[in-house]
Amino acid sequence: MSEKKDQEKAKVTLEKLVSLSKRRGFVFQSSEIYGGQSGAWDYGPLGVELKKNIQGVWWKEMTQMHDNIVGLDAAILMHPRVWHASGHVENFTDPLIECKGCRGRFRADHIDPKGACPTCGKKDTLGEPRKFNLMFTTHIGPVEETASTIYLRPETAQGIFVNFKNVVSSSRVKVPFGIAQVGKAFRNEIVTKAFIFRTAEFEQMEMQFFIHPKEEPKWFEYWKQSRIEYYSKLGIDPAHLRFHQHGKDELAHYAINAFDIEFLFPMGWQELEGIHSRSDYDLRRHQEFSGDKQEYLDQETQERYLPYVIETSAGLTRSVLMVLTDAYEEEVLGEGDVRTVMHFHPNLAPVKVAVMPVVKKDGLLELAQKLEMDLREDFATMLEPTGNIGKNYRRQDEIGTPYCVTVDHTTKEDNTVTIRYRDSMKQERVKISELVGFIRNNMKNYQRGQ
Ligand code: GAP
Repeated sequence: MSEKKDQEKAKVTLEKLVSLSKRRGFVFQSSEIYGGQSGAWDYGPLGVELKKNIQGVWWKEMTQMHDNIVGLDAAILMHPRVWHASGHVENFTDPLIECKGCRGRFRADHIDPKGACPTCGKKDTLGEPRKFNLMFTTHIGPVEETASTIYLRPETAQGIFVNFKNVVSSSRVKVPFGIAQVGKAFRNEIVTKAFIFRTAEFEQMEMQFFIHPKEEPKWFEYWKQSRIEYYSKLGIDPAHLRFHQHGKDELAHYAINAFDIEFLFPMGWQELEGIHSRSDYDLRRHQEFSGDKQEYLDQETQERYLPYVIETSAGLTRSVLMVLTDAYEEEVLGEGDVRTVMHFHPNLAPVKVAVMPVVKKDGLLELAQKLEMDLREDFATMLEPTGNIGKNYRRQDEIGTPYCVTVDHTTKEDNTVTIRYRDSMKQERVKISELVGFIRNNMKNYQRGQ
């Protein structure tokens, strides 16, 4: 992209992403007609496709592309002892400060606890920090009593740890191997903010990699590199990604070493994914609390040991915000002419191919309808039936459709169509019989701007 174009490119703000998401059906506020539920968001017709596509690329990367990683889908509700063993009941807390004046609540590590209240501005009204556990509790069964208290999982990882032995005994995996899982997690965050960045209900894509303790440094480095490289497969600009190593005071209670992959969100650099070295902490604790031996037997050496774990933990809903941020562009085409375009990688785009007739008459609409039906087998498609090409292109640009296929009068004569590329707006003539292979090939070799 030229320097001038770079300057013209408007800076993306959260407000712009929230507005586009609502306008085009990516993300809606939860329970909006009742005034909204903070900390929760609903994914609309395009948002759910985008989220599923991100999940699909991650799942393929982890399971299909590695012969030693298998999948799992554990229940959200788990035995409450799991969370005592994991250390979450005791340690999964944030320091909460309340303002005695306006009743505002803040994370003590996000404000100056000795300063004025960030909301009402009053001095000397901030109370002492106290520990606030982030786990949601609820009750299982018809009677609400202490014995029936159950937690909504704050991380998906524990479902993997408690199934470690089941997976080893039921599949062919041998250390080193991984278990991957995608699912909902819940945290009663003191402050939910920044759209879908920090929410009370969210989704994680986690992978626990079980290794011999001696190999910890090697695998930790391997997963650090592998995870940052993965983001180029989503078409994310590498200049918008960086590592942040946790200092001793930042480490989670289960971690002996950790790096965040940070992304340049509209509100600045923030965590996107955590890579944690969890030692044998979780398996050891579950062994202690359950009385069930969690050791692994190496069949070749006959060594019995508790494996160490390297964890890669990415936010799926947070990845949606990353992809929206990275894709957004307001491109100035001329005086007063700005097109909003989402440069999604074609593998992530909710709609891959939009088909439209140049005019509705002369049988062209019917031809476009038939072509769109034929393409459905291979791609997520959309029919644009109005015959207003200019408007159709702009709408498809705004939802990030990489290919628009136009049927015109020549199509009737020679069975060719025009394919128009979202990023460059260039057009080419292609035979209908070659269209599927042509688009597939283009998707495979996609480079932003083409
Ligand atoms: N099992 C380890 C674990 O949960 P984490 O760093 O607390 O580690 C991992 O969370 C990832 O989950 C984060 O990098 C982020 O992408 C996502 N995440 C965590 N809390 C979140 C929240 N409240 N809202 C949205 N995503 C969140």
